[in-house]
Amino acid sequence: MKNSDKEISVYIHLPFCERKCLYCAFTSFVSSEDMQKEYIKHLLKEIEKFENGYKAKTIYFGGGTPSVLRLDLLEKIFDALKTKFEIATDAEITMEVNPNSVGEEKFKFYKKLGVNRLSIGIQSLNNKTLKKIGRLHTKEEALNKLKLAKRYFDNVSCDLILGLEKEKNVVKYAKKLIKFGVKHISCYMLEVHENTPLFNLVESKKYRPLDDEAVAKSYEKLRKFLKKQHFNQYEISNFSLPNFESKHNLAYWSYDDYVGFGVSSHSFIHGVRYENSSVLNDYYEGKTYSETITNDKEIEERILLGLRCKNGVDLEKLKKMGYFLEKNEFFMQFLEKNILKKENDKVYLNPNYYAVSDFIIEHLFP
Ligand SMILES: C[S@@+](CC[C@H](N)C(=O)[O-])C[C@H]1O[C@@H](n2cnc3c(N)ncnc32)[C@H](O)[C@@H]1O
Ligand code: SF4
Repeated sequence: MKNSDKEISVYIHLPFCERKCLYCAFTSFVSSEDMQKEYIKHLLKEIEKFENGYKAKTIYFGGGTPSVLRLDLLEKIFDALKTKFEIATDAEITMEVNPNSVGEEKFKFYKKLGVNRLSIGIQSLNNKTLKKIGRLHTKEEALNKLKLAKRYFDNVSCDLILGLEKEKNVVKYAKKLIKFGVKHISCYMLEVHENTPLFNLVESKKYRPLDDEAVAKSYEKLRKFLKKQHFNQYEISNFSLPNFESKHNLAYWSYDDYVGFGVSSHSFIHGVRYENSSVLNDYYEGKTYSETITNDKEIEERILLGLRCKNGVDLEKLKKMGYFLEKNEFFMQFLEKNILKKENDKVYLNPNYYAVSDFIIEHLFP
């Protein structure tokens, strides 16, 4: 479609899962076909209502588990996106999938639709753990699907969760994934959310995740291992081979505009943040919250987002907004201690300190 000079990143939330994992607090539901159809009807309307004239530079289908969606319904979303947006010729188009809900037919179809990046939820390669946390796939199935995925897609990322098991296991899993040709690994520290079955299991001591110290050790081991494998850490939980960073996530962290369609999605457009309701019926009724970002809030967010990833913070931009980071005493100390690095007009956090970024960042706020 049309030529557009305004660029944007597009997120589509598909809240369907075959079963809820015991740890997961994302907005997602076990869905019937009717529910999928109803949801897509509202999603298409939402896309249609969006302002014209944007070029989509990245598109990310997240969830939930987008690979649970029927292919004809997925195709309708692509049609709506192509009608609404000019899609950049080099757009990164990511689909989140999990091993139990994909196969060759879906991979082929995704490729035909224009998907060029897959993010596979692997979590662990230990069958006992997978069962305990409510996953529907085994280690063998995960590796088979990964092998198949690699036949169709070069740019494949895998998710792992840290803290589920023994410290060194996560390194073993990463090693295996790299052997299978994975170019990007996201590794999240296990969060035990109050309203999940895992919380009750932990409370009743039926499940014992790693303690904080062991998680920190495990994370350090993984970081060292991935560095040796030439995977650059470009954010606290994200590692990739050169040029395989997620452009979509980097757009969030660069303070670029993005639009999210679907229940619980967020958007950030011309300095206003929007949040769709995470209650399905409220979303259907169009309930959205919005907040205009003030100058001071934007300064804080630019520091927070920029330092948490390889983008860094643009000092000139902050100056134009009235904030001189060089005048902050902690800033100079962090530079001396090599915690921060300054290059031209940009400042970066040394990746060795990503895990304690909150502490450093809060000392740099206005
Ligand atoms: C929205 S899920 C989508 C992936 C896909 N549905 C799947 O499960 O394979 C994205 C990722 O978030 C991570 N995640 C979800 N809940 C988590 C939790 N409580 N703690 C840590 N990571 C979590 C998992 O690694 C998961 O792959
Ligand atoms: S981790 Fe993925 S599959 Fe499991 S409940 Fe959450 S979104 Fe669904």
